[in-house]
Amino acid sequence: MILPITAFGHPILRKVAKSIDKNYPNLNGLISDMFETMYATSGVGLAAPQVNLSIRLLVMDATPYAKEDPQAVGFKKVLINPVIINQEGDEWMFNEGCLSIPDVREDIMRKPKIHIQYYNENWEFFDEEYTSVMARIIQHEYDHLEGILFVDKVSNLRKVLLKRKLLDISKGNIEVDYKMIFPLKKKNKR
Ligand code: NI
Repeated sequence: MILPITAFGHPILRKVAKSIDKNYPNLNGLISDMFETMYATSGVGLAAPQVNLSIRLLVMDATPYAKEDPQAVGFKKVLINPVIINQEGDEWMFNEGCLSIPDVREDIMRKPKIHIQYYNENWEFFDEEYTSVMARIIQHEYDHLEGILFVDKVSNLRKVLLKRKLLDISKGNIEVDYKMIFPLKKKNKR
């Protein structure tokens, strides 16, 4: 099932998400719906708050970034309760977008290497390091679990320039080809 995506301004995108355990109801179904939603919206990553659930769960598939890094092909993962232990290296710029903020892309600086611990969909524990676009996707999605959005990381000038656009997104005054939950949409007006 394709799930609707929470749009910029939705309060759930600003909450720190909660860890889950093995008893979380219908987790496999949710993970499969999140992948279906991510592929249907041409995303490379999706965090649970973007489908209106404040839990520490994200899915990703880096394959569309094959040109940036051949290792991205087939890099498909579920991360449950991830913890970024460390980030290192000289920050590099990458053009990011977000399914919750359609039609906005910005160059964002992040560190190139991360050390992360998480559980996969079978509750196996992993302690791993990632670099390049794989690290980048994880950093972006992990931020969603902390209530942080990539537009928080742009310069003050860019923030001013984006303000109107972001307000339009919250109100649903945008063209988008997937279903979204707009926090400021007026129900009875067209
Ligand atoms: Ni995002």
